[in-house]
Amino acid sequence: MKLGCCYYPEHWPEEMWAEDARRMAEMGLSLVRIGEFAWSRIEQEPGRFDWDWLDRAVEVLANAGLKIIMGTPTATPPKWLVDQMPDMVAIDEQGCPRGFGSRRHYCFSHEGYRAEAARITNAMAERYGKHPAIAMWQTDNEFGCHDTVLSFSKSAAARFRKWLAARYGDVSALNTAWGNVFWSMEYRDFDEIDPPNLTVTEANPAHWLDYRRFASDEVASFNAAQVAILREHSPDRDITHNFMGFFTEFDHYDVGRDLDVATWDSYPLGFLEQFWFSTQEKAEYLRQGHPDIAAFHHDLYRGCSNGRWGVMEQQPGPVNWARFNPAPLPGMVALWTLEAMAHGAEFVSYFRWRQAPFAQEQMHAGLLRPDSIDASGADDARTAADAIERLGSQETAGAPVALVFSYEAAWVCGIQPQGQSFRYLELIYEWYSAARRLGLDIDIVSPDADLGGYAMVLVPTLPITPAGFVAKLKALDCPVLIGPRSGSKTKSFCIPDGLAPGELRKLIDLTVTRVESLRDGINEKAGSGAIERWREDIASILIPEIEADDGSGVVFKSENIRYLAAWPDRELLKGLLERMAKDGRVEMSPLPKGLRLRRTVSHVFVFNYSQAPIDISSFCGSKELVLGSINLPPAGVAAWRR
Ligand code: GAL
Repeated sequence: MKLGCCYYPEHWPEEMWAEDARRMAEMGLSLVRIGEFAWSRIEQEPGRFDWDWLDRAVEVLANAGLKIIMGTPTATPPKWLVDQMPDMVAIDEQGCPRGFGSRRHYCFSHEGYRAEAARITNAMAERYGKHPAIAMWQTDNEFGCHDTVLSFSKSAAARFRKWLAARYGDVSALNTAWGNVFWSMEYRDFDEIDPPNLTVTEANPAHWLDYRRFASDEVASFNAAQVAILREHSPDRDITHNFMGFFTEFDHYDVGRDLDVATWDSYPLGFLEQFWFSTQEKAEYLRQGHPDIAAFHHDLYRGCSNGRWGVMEQQPGPVNWARFNPAPLPGMVALWTLEAMAHGAEFVSYFRWRQAPFAQEQMHAGLLRPDSIDASGADDARTAADAIERLGSQETAGAPVALVFSYEAAWVCGIQPQGQSFRYLELIYEWYSAARRLGLDIDIVSPDADLGGYAMVLVPTLPITPAGFVAKLKALDCPVLIGPRSGSKTKSFCIPDGLAPGELRKLIDLTVTRVESLRDGINEKAGSGAIERWREDIASILIPEIEADDGSGVVFKSENIRYLAAWPDRELLKGLLERMAKDGRVEMSPLPKGLRLRRTVSHVFVFNYSQAPIDISSFCGSKELVLGSINLPPAGVAAWRR
């Protein structure tokens, strides 16, 4: 695994570049990402390119032995371009333009901007495509960051209508599919259909779902256009895009199909603060991040581009964008880096080299302070570089557990939560966490993935069952757990004939006759734990495997297939996964709080996310540690040969 950093030569006087490059190499870094926000310096006036400075920056970095990841600068179109085409900006749900003055001020559907993005990509690809120091391209930067997938512009409306016409052929087919007879919402022509915003009350969920599918396709085709240009002018270079954390606004599998390497931007402390974690967890993991945040995304993005993935931006210290921005524990940045290695990353690149003293991110740490002195992240980068050298190359081990993750499922749950705490990402994350706490290695996979070869398959929820999915599950003989709301919608967001779980009834004979959602704090004991948030009434000839205290069935089992008719708490989920692991003869290593484990082909790695040392002797036995110590300190990493 290689290390790298994100560098902005345009932010620093040219005299600093060579020394920066030398220090990067000295720190153990061999990759440097540049260029992704530099449009206003590359093309200061329309059509007048200034490559000289970037040519020199590329040479200086290359001369220090660094390989370059070059970003296309389309996340930051310059002011002159926005002035030329003021309607290229996205329009928010309230109908307001999202104007110039920060970044991502463009609408994916604007044909003029698509042409401009292709033009600048082409110019960069022609200039640097065959340069020996260019190892990889990054398209744009974080598609969707700052809520920018959905736009409600005229351009988006026009392309949405075309997208609908291609999908349905005939507007009456759309009316039927969506159920537009309800509230007299019928259309006479595709041209009458607007985006689903600015309605008096909620728009038809089917309308929203198609708008989300459309918007996701817009991101994928915007990316694909750049990929095609880069492939033409820059053969044999890898192409990536840097995805975000806990982000489901477009289908990453679709974008990933066009890439060689999926990368993501890892900010564990920022994510802990910004997402649903309890106040207690936020305090407990303040300087470490919740122990499954990074791993969850590693395992997710490994499944997005044929197994090739990396971390494009690794938090090196406090960030600037969360509600509170604590500093990582000493050693934590090294732990995050090595954990990525254990999960199979090809590289980890720190964001950013030096903290900028100006503009929006002046409070965001870098590996260096603004005065160029090493910040604490630099020590961690060195520690990680040493450990990587000591451990040698690692290949992540095949996982026994597959967890099915679907972007469409996230959209369905978001459009119609039915209970405000039914959060798709949280559900998936809880299932993932529960398996990790049992010491199991996990692959997060698309519903289209091949599931053969796994010893356990988890489907936390899949409201719309994709074609072929049921047959695929039927062919498995390993334990399978299907969660609530699965099979509860048709592809046009209606209740299926014969009710939920629709087609899944071919796997397990039951019918969901009623659902209810429950406010926080309400629960009912069931099995080893309790159910909360969501429960389903089930009609079935099957005797429940687990009942709630009130006698209702919670888990039903038919051969290797289980259906869970509720949102489980952690204890219930743990008990269920233990049963499955026993059925599937999967070896578990239940872990103490805060300890996590991941196997590579050659080694076992453990990571201490807690605030106190943990004795790991029961895990490594008499094996000699090649990294770390038996009494593993907070932020410690230990490894031994398998
Ligand atoms: C990412 C982004 C970077 C930088 C970073 C700060 O979302 O890609 O450009 O803004 O966050 O944490």
